[in-house]
Amino acid sequence: MNRELAEAPIGVFDSGVGGLTVAREIMRNLPAEHIVYFGDTARLPYGSKSRETILTYSRQIIRFLQTQNVKAIVVACNTASAFALDEISKESDLPMIGVVKPGARTAAGATFNRRIGVIGTEGTVNSHIYRDFIKQIDSGITVVEKACPLFVPLVEEHWIEDPITRQVAERYLEEMKQQEVDTLVLGCTHYPLLRSLIGEVMGSSVTLVNPAYETAQGLKRLLQFRNLANPGTDTKEFPYRFFVSDLAEKFKVFANSILPYDVGMTQKIDIEEY
Ligand code: DGL
Repeated sequence: MNRELAEAPIGVFDSGVGGLTVAREIMRNLPAEHIVYFGDTARLPYGSKSRETILTYSRQIIRFLQTQNVKAIVVACNTASAFALDEISKESDLPMIGVVKPGARTAAGATFNRRIGVIGTEGTVNSHIYRDFIKQIDSGITVVEKACPLFVPLVEEHWIEDPITRQVAERYLEEMKQQEVDTLVLGCTHYPLLRSLIGEVMGSSVTLVNPAYETAQGLKRLLQFRNLANPGTDTKEFPYRFFVSDLAEKFKVFANSILPYDVGMTQKIDIEEY
């Protein structure tokens, strides 16, 4: 093993704060790993933008993360995983993992009645990427997809337990219930923060799949396979660094509500320069 390389950080990126739900799972499940997180807070949301735009943004972010000497990259955004992961992983030697494949695999393994629901941004849902991956695993599975664009701003307002959020959830998820899915993929970084509400609306018989957890497990296997897992001997004081393209303070407040750490210094960078 090349120790210096193994001790390098993992680059994790998202359109903003949502990818912290993925970073959180990496911190929990791979505690020896260091992380450089980038949230593209100046240019979010990604969920309503075109494939070309998301590809341009993702390429810039990869170039920035390369300046931080990362050893691997996690595309912690469903929309960027749907629109850009294929291209950017062909363009770079860095090992990369997105959130969609791990989520799709888990959902296909979890369903008993072979009826899976997928909720996400407009971009992710209209790309049909979850449906296509699930059908590659088992073409007999029925996949019901639904864009839930209001969930992202509601989470960012911290209206997690709010009656308005419940009403919105009931309306969005009505179709999923009628279609009798027994498994529901939370196909957007923000949705795990609404997990208990979504679980209550769907009912206890429906399995909720959080791709963030599965992605952390997939990353663990990828690092082991490539001999890149951090041996954990480097005792840097705080192994996580955070960068954003705008409003570092706002990011910090949100991050501190998701993560069990004080994110401390968050640095703003000009991503358009990369
Ligand atoms: N991070 C995005 C995703 O998972 C949601 C927020 C956005 O639209 O930028 O698709």
